[in-house]
Amino acid sequence: MDDLAIARAIHVLSVVHWIGGVAMVTAVILPAVARLAEPARRLELFHAVESRFSAQARVSVPLAGITGFYMTDRLGAWDRFADPAFWWMHAMVLVWTLFMIVLFVAEPLFLHRWFRARMEAAPERTFAFVRRAHWILLTLASVTVAGAVLGVHGVF
Ligand code: HEM
Repeated sequence: MDDLAIARAIHVLSVVHWIGGVAMVTAVILPAVARLAEPARRLELFHAVESRFSAQARVSVPLAGITGFYMTDRLGAWDRFADPAFWWMHAMVLVWTLFMIVLFVAEPLFLHRWFRARMEAAPERTFAFVRRAHWILLTLASVTVAGAVLGVHGVF
């Protein structure tokens, strides 16, 4: 087994943990919280569950990036970023960058405080925004996973 195969296995495993977790939060936890809790308590309940996942994603997201850039270098594939046919390479970097910003910049610096303030002002609207944002990120990530697998196998 060579280093490229190992990097690919770690990459896919990291993506499975990370995007699988996003799917669980988006399609299972958020709808359950919406049904069970009254508007003012929803965000608190959501944070209690989601912060555990965030802590784990702070390992799997950087690992996906490290192995992704390692493979790009190992394959000598940097020139793909200049070719629109490799849109799925751009999509991978875009999705990764978005999550890195949320996990390492927005969450520690201001996201929680900002949501708390908005939640007090408009609980229903803020929670609807959180749900919509999760569906958008999950859709983007799912298109990227499908695009990457098809792209690796020469479909585009
Ligand atoms: C910094 C970010 C990333 C970089 C640089 C990167 C780079 C790569 C590279 C070079 C490959 C191998 C391509 C090949 O064999 O020709 C790959 C495969 C793959 N990546 Fe990424 N990736 C990143 C993030 C992501 C993200 C965010 C996702 C999903 C949302 C993702 C999903 C996949 C999948 C599913 C494969 C295909 C595995 C296979 O079928 O062999 N990657 N990535």
